[in-house]
Amino acid sequence: MNDFTYVGARLHAEGVAMKDIAAEVGTPFYCYSVAAMDCNYEAFTRAFDGLPATICYSVKANSNLAVLREMAMRGAGADVVSGGELSRALKAGMAPGKIVFSGVGKTAWEIDAALEAGIFQINVESESELIMVNERARSHGVNAAVALRVNPDVDADTHEKISTGKVEDKFGVDLPHAPDLYKRAASMESVTPVGLAVHIGSQLTRLDPFREAFSRVAALVVSLRESGLEVVRLDLGGGLGIVYDGETPPDINDYAALIREVIAPLDCDLLFEPGRYLVGNAGVLVTRVIRIKEGHGRRFVVVDAGMNDLLRPALYDARHRILPLSEAVPDAEESLADIVGPVCETGDCFAEARPLPPLAEGDLLAICSAGAYGAVMASTYNNRPLIPEVMVRGDSHAVVRVRQEAEALFALERTPGWQETGSNRDSNIRNTA
Ligand code: LLP
Repeated sequence: MNDFTYVGARLHAEGVAMKDIAAEVGTPFYCYSVAAMDCNYEAFTRAFDGLPATICYSVKANSNLAVLREMAMRGAGADVVSGGELSRALKAGMAPGKIVFSGVGKTAWEIDAALEAGIFQINVESESELIMVNERARSHGVNAAVALRVNPDVDADTHEKISTGKVEDKFGVDLPHAPDLYKRAASMESVTPVGLAVHIGSQLTRLDPFREAFSRVAALVVSLRESGLEVVRLDLGGGLGIVYDGETPPDINDYAALIREVIAPLDCDLLFEPGRYLVGNAGVLVTRVIRIKEGHGRRFVVVDAGMNDLLRPALYDARHRILPLSEAVPDAEESLADIVGPVCETGDCFAEARPLPPLAEGDLLAICSAGAYGAVMASTYNNRPLIPEVMVRGDSHAVVRVRQEAEALFALERTPGWQETGSNRDSNIRNTA
């Protein structure tokens, strides 16, 4: 189901024409569809029907409080990777008993915050972290449930920057070292190893790497149990790919069938950390054409969104579909255009030589599949304020983050004393000149 469709030649998010939102909040802005999130969430839960599975939504994909609330309202927990994400998840009403904390670099204060909130599980990725969690838990007088994140050394066959399951990647504990560390955890006073976690990468478009990784994890569970250790939970991470522009990611039901075959017989409670699958196609970035510029043999369509608003094309060469908000007439002739942002970097490019219907200055475009890793990765590079986020549900819409004021860009900066009026800086400069 697609919740971004043309109705009367106007691109709608559910029942709302996005040009009306543009008129209200200006451009660029992110627009999210609750129905799309709902549909993805439903498909995910239905696929695992009958299995003891908990969805811990991966907050890093889109951490807007309204998005987190939609997830919480459907019963999701959260996968967080920082103290900031933990605070957001709690603020959004996510149950601490359904929050897992992943990541290679948790600091003492972040571990403390997790212990104080009484979260479900900390996914430990190294010996040093295990020791720290044990010490912090002891000083809090609690016992922390930990899962050991393993690195199964499997090539996820995705973009190298979002691949996490090879031994050369920083994530997880190598399989050969995992049994000793798990045993060590079992002997510690203030942690209890409850199971294993694995996440080999993001935007996976084939099932084979999942099969390979899960099979290795399953073998490890068997061997840990043979040596008398208890393994009651498996956190299978996220990573399922979505369609951006012509990809053919695995069907959720085939992914679930694989888990039923390889993992379910182990009889563990299961956690999943989907991010992109739940929100990726539930969001678009709406932008306006500022200028059409005829270059040497190419046409540049300069839009008002830039790589600071949506980094994925610049960082991962990601290809997002681009649709005009006013539907092109059926026999409109397409021509090639480069859709570029205003940021002073050549990499600020959303599409190269893309066939598009005629476009004019002032036209509105939607950059599709921008619901995951869009707003969360935005920066203020070139001193461009963060853009609004709007959520649509049926015929209603709400601004769920307002546009940042230009003044906020320097509000945290301070003037050093020597630059203040009345200081002798000017004369110093003159004297040394
Ligand atoms: N669990 C862990 C431990 C993760 O590291 C990630 C993503 C997820 C779950 C969620 O993965 P998902 O289901 O969304 O694939 N910025 C990149 C993606 C980075 C993903 C990082 N980890 C992008 O825009 O493609």
